[in-house]
Amino acid sequence: MSIKDKIDRHKLPQHIAIIMDGNGRWAKGLGKLRIFGHQSGVGAVREVLEGAIEIGVPYLTLYAFSSENWNRPKLEVQALMELLISSLSKELKTFQQNGVQLKAIGNLSELPEKIRKKLTETITATKDNTKCTLTLALSYGARDEIVGAVKKLATQVEAGTLSVDQIDAAAFEQQLYTAGTPDPDLMIRTSGEYRISNFLLWQMAYTELWFSDKMWPEIKREDLFEAIFDYQNRERRFGKTSEQI
Ligand code: IPE
Ligand code: IPE
Ligand code: MG
Repeated sequence: MSIKDKIDRHKLPQHIAIIMDGNGRWAKGLGKLRIFGHQSGVGAVREVLEGAIEIGVPYLTLYAFSSENWNRPKLEVQALMELLISSLSKELKTFQQNGVQLKAIGNLSELPEKIRKKLTETITATKDNTKCTLTLALSYGARDEIVGAVKKLATQVEAGTLSVDQIDAAAFEQQLYTAGTPDPDLMIRTSGEYRISNFLLWQMAYTELWFSDKMWPEIKREDLFEAIFDYQNRERRFGKTSEQI
């Protein structure tokens, strides 16, 4: 029985978030440049997206570039941006054929104009697709996102359109980039690192975490299936006792 057949289709995580990590170390291990690792990582993105579609996961969020990644060497940042543009162009057909709707979260205004244009184009072209929502986190930092939400609420209070009493978790969530998207049920991180790295801090309050020692370019759809299978064998208690579940 393959790992895919072991998955219970009625208990699928609705939203999977992934920290795609280890491109640079993987390339270095082969005696190649870090950028070769990023280029090879595109194949793993395809694997995971196809796997998510195959099995019927409606939301997939990929951490592609963090607000801290701007501090990397200029050449690497530039190469990552180029890769993003070329991948978006190449994948549009796949998105359309598979009903994938593209979204982007993060401080997108920091991205080069060329990228923003390509992103807007792809987002518009795929806006009516309903099978799977693929969200790219780009120039994304959860702390920035949270501070931004606080500022928006404060502005409304200052303008007199919102009272302090009206501020609750639901009102706060409305101001996050992810408003309207369910919280991730499962978060995957590759490369043997066990940290969150400023990803979806608010949204992951009750997310199940799954880690792999594989480097991102080595990831295949079976790894996604393994993570889903493992997720399905956990008990999510949300603070309750096992007997209450
Ligand atoms: C993940 O791989 C891709 C990005 C962060 C853009 P890394 O580039 O972080 O690879 P390592 O972690 O240095 O090996
Ligand atoms: C997290 O990976 C960001 C992305 C995968 C885009 P990093 O490689 O930047 O994280 P740290 O620096 O090891 O925490
Ligand atoms: Mg890394």
